[in-house]
This record gives sequence, C-alpha cells and structure tokens, in this order.
Amino acid sequence: MALNSIRSTLLWILIPAVVLTSGLSLWVSSVELTDRVNAAFDRALAGALQSIALNVNTESGGLAMEQPFYMLEFIELATDSRVYFRVSTEDGLSEIGYSELPMPEDDLLEDGRPLFYSGEYFGETLRLAIMAIGPSERLQTPLDSRIIIQVGESTTGRDEFIRRVLLQTVRKDFALLLLFVFLISAGAILALRPLRETSEIIHQRASGNLQPIDEATLPREVRPLIRAINLHMERYARKTTTQQQFLDDTSHQLRTPLSVLMMQVEYAKSLARSEEMQEVLEAIQQRLNNTIQLTNQMMALGRVHDAADKLRSGESLEEVDLCEVARDVVNDFLAAAREKRQDFGLDLPDTPIVIRGIGWLLHQALSNMVNNAIKYSPVQARITVSAYDTEDGAVLQVEDNGPGMSAEDIALAGHRFRRGAAGRAQHGSGLGLAIVQTIADINNAHMEIVPATADGGLTVRLTFPQHSS
Ligand SMILES: Nc1ncnc2c1ncn2[C@@H]1O[C@H](COP(=O)(O)OP(=O)(O)OP(=O)(O)O)[C@@H](O)[C@H]1O
Ligand SMILES: [Mg+2]
Repeated sequence: MALNSIRSTLLWILIPAVVLTSGLSLWVSSVELTDRVNAAFDRALAGALQSIALNVNTESGGLAMEQPFYMLEFIELATDSRVYFRVSTEDGLSEIGYSELPMPEDDLLEDGRPLFYSGEYFGETLRLAIMAIGPSERLQTPLDSRIIIQVGESTTGRDEFIRRVLLQTVRKDFALLLLFVFLISAGAILALRPLRETSEIIHQRASGNLQPIDEATLPREVRPLIRAINLHMERYARKTTTQQQFLDDTSHQLRTPLSVLMMQVEYAKSLARSEEMQEVLEAIQQRLNNTIQLTNQMMALGRVHDAADKLRSGESLEEVDLCEVARDVVNDFLAAAREKRQDFGLDLPDTPIVIRGIGWLLHQALSNMVNNAIKYSPVQARITVSAYDTEDGAVLQVEDNGPGMSAEDIALAGHRFRRGAAGRAQHGSGLGLAIVQTIADINNAHMEIVPATADGGLTVRLTFPQHSS
C-alpha cells in the first residue's frame, strides 16, 4: 500500500470506507426488507385465518366449512405459493383439511389471536398461522373444546419476492458505489492537479531561476511548504549573489596588478642577458597570460550573472538576429583562424533568424564556442559557424573536425573549471562552456554538445525553442 502518496492515501481510505458503508447499508436494508415482506405475507395468512373462522360451522354436529378451497386458491394465486389449511377441535376428535400440519412449539394459544411460526411439511418449508376460537353460540363442539384453525403457505413465493427486490437494491447500490468511487477518484485527481502543474512549471525552470514559486493557485494546505521553500530559495539566492559579488570584485582587483606584472616581465625580458634567464621569464609570462585569461573569464561569468539578475528583476529580452551575431563573431576570430591556417567559414540563410534574447550575451557565448573550436582543432582544420531554423526552434552552432570530446567529457561539459582531454594540452581556465551554459539558460536556449561525425569532430549547438519556423 503506497501511503506516501496523498492520492493513494485518500483512495485507500475513502474507497474501502464507501464499500464497507454500502455493504453495511445493504445488509441492514435486506434485514428490514425481509421483515416487512414477512409482515405483509403474514397479514394475508391472518386474513385467511379470519375468513376460515367465519366459514366454519358446527351445525352438522361435527366441523364443516363452506367453499374453503375457493378462498385458498385465491391466496395461492395472489402469493404464488401453495397454501394448506386445517381446522380441528383442540381435543383432536374432529378435523378437516390437511392433517399433520406442523404445530407451533409454544402451544399457549390465546382465543382469537393469530400466532405465526415456521415448520416443515413433507420436506417443504412452510410459514404458518394458527388461531384458537373459543366455543360460542355459533360454534358449538360436543365437549366444548376450542376450535384450532391453521393456515400454512410454502415460502417459495415470498422468498422469490424478497430475492427479486434484494437484487434490485443490490444493482442500485452497486451503481451508486461505482459513482462514488468515480467521484472520489476524480476529486483526488482534481484536488492534486495544481500541485502537479506547479511541479511541471518548476521542472521547466532554467537552473539559475530562483524566483519565488507562485502559491496563489495552490491548495491552502501546501502553501506553508511552498512558503518555506521560497524562503529557502531566497536565502540561497542571496548567498550566491554575495559569493558571485566577491568573485567579481576579486577578479577585478587582480587585473591591475597582473597587467603591471606583465609589463615588468616584458621589461625584465629586455634586460635579460643569458638564454636561461630568457626561458625563465618566458615561462613566467606564459603563466601570467593564463592567469589574466582566467580573471577575464571570471569577469565574463560575473557579467553574465549580473545580466541574469537584471532579467529576473524584470528587464526584458530584445529581438536578436542570430545571423548577425554569427557574422560579428566570425569577423572577430578571422585573424586567429588564419594564424592556424584553418578553413573558417560561415553558413547562413538569406533571411534573418530573429529570436528573443540578449544580443551581447549571445555574442559572448558564440565567441567561447568558436574560441574552443579554433583552439582545440589542429592546423588546417575546418570550422563552420551556422544558423538555421528547425522544427524545434532556431539553431546557432559551431562545428569542427578537430579531436572531438569523449562521452565522459561531454557529460561534464559546462561544469565550472572542468577541462577535457583536449583541454589539458592547451592553456585555458575551464570556464568557457560554463559561461555558454549560463547564457543559454538566460536566453531560454538549450545547449547541446555532440560528436560532429562518427570519426570525430565536435558540434556545439544552441537551440532557441521559442522561435519556430
Ligand atoms: N571544439 C572542441 N573540441 C575538442 N574539445 C573541446 C572543444 N570545446 C571544448 N572542448 C573540451 O571541453 C573542455 C571545456 O571547455 P571550456 O571552454 O569550458 O574550457 P577551456 O576551453 O578549457 O577554458 P576557457 O574556455 O575557460 O579558457 C575543454 O578543456 C576541452 O577539453
Ligand atoms: Mg574554452
């Protein structure tokens, strides 16, 4: 029993409760019904007793009765069962009708008052009524004995009647039960739907979106939980902003001394007399270059986070032509590609591909992607930047025929300071793709890294689903 779900808890408690209540009510009504039907049939038997009593006479000296069978036949027809009767004196000396009809266990009979009981008569179950009549002017027996009248009726008729009515009740109750189960299930689903919708919305959120969850549409019972989660997210967002701020400030502070150091190393190189000294200074310069690159990337990440914060506080996206972004970035990197004699090309449609986003951020993202392709692909490699429309949205991509990335590196791409196999042979800080991922999130885009062909190469693709052709 999966009681860790609200819906199954509701269903597991309510449905058995409804089934039990229906069963109980059915049992009570069957008992009541049997009692009522018995009472009605018993009244007919009592009526038969009375009419027999009126028709019995003792004028002949013994017991006699006018047209008894006519009346009994009528009862038989009305109740659809066999009817038996017996009239006798209490001393048993005189008797008409069916002899040996079963007698009641309690033989204290009051005059004129019918007593009902059940008994067996030749293998058949009978319901019987018995009445005693005291001697009167009209009815006189030789020894002043009372006259005993009995009427019995086979129970088949009333049993069949009860069965029929019970069956109807069962059918009606079952239909009601099905309706209840349906209503309870539908109620549970409807009541929990806002929860499911909210989880769906949160699921689709960009990873950096720490906006409070809207609690207005949610059931009152879950609002405290949502409020607690919102509070937690707010604290978390504040903490991240502080950390980010610290990082930005640090990288900014580092830039100036690093540039000064660079200049001093440059100067030292011009003064160096020995070759060994030159080599040492070269190595220092290389290290310094890397550190400057790292601080630049960290500052870029800071700017990207700033943009995300602004967007969160209501700044809206603008219309950006992906083709224009691609052209600009390719222009920026022409010299770098030429230096490695790479075949660096653009593949764009004639018409602009306009999406809603932040232009300078997309420029930054594509720059990082192109920078990687040029950096990690060998001399004379082919690199193509393209933009195109698909069913899933507009695409901005960089494809190269370089070394590509292993499945493991692809899985971890976008994590800060994570560098892959190709990265280890080159200088870099491991922040490029993390910045691309963050920019993709801000622009509601989806970053995808796939092998370009089965033989190698890499395609890094940004898809903007909001735009469809
Ligand atoms: N086009 C590519 N071909 C092969 N490997 C790549 C390519 N692009 C990225 N990678 C791999 O992914 C890793 C992460 O790339 P990312 O741009 O995030 O960091 P980086 O290039 O090492 O440093 P940074 O860009 O911050 O200077 C790289 O170290 C490299 O191993
Ligand atoms: Mg990079």
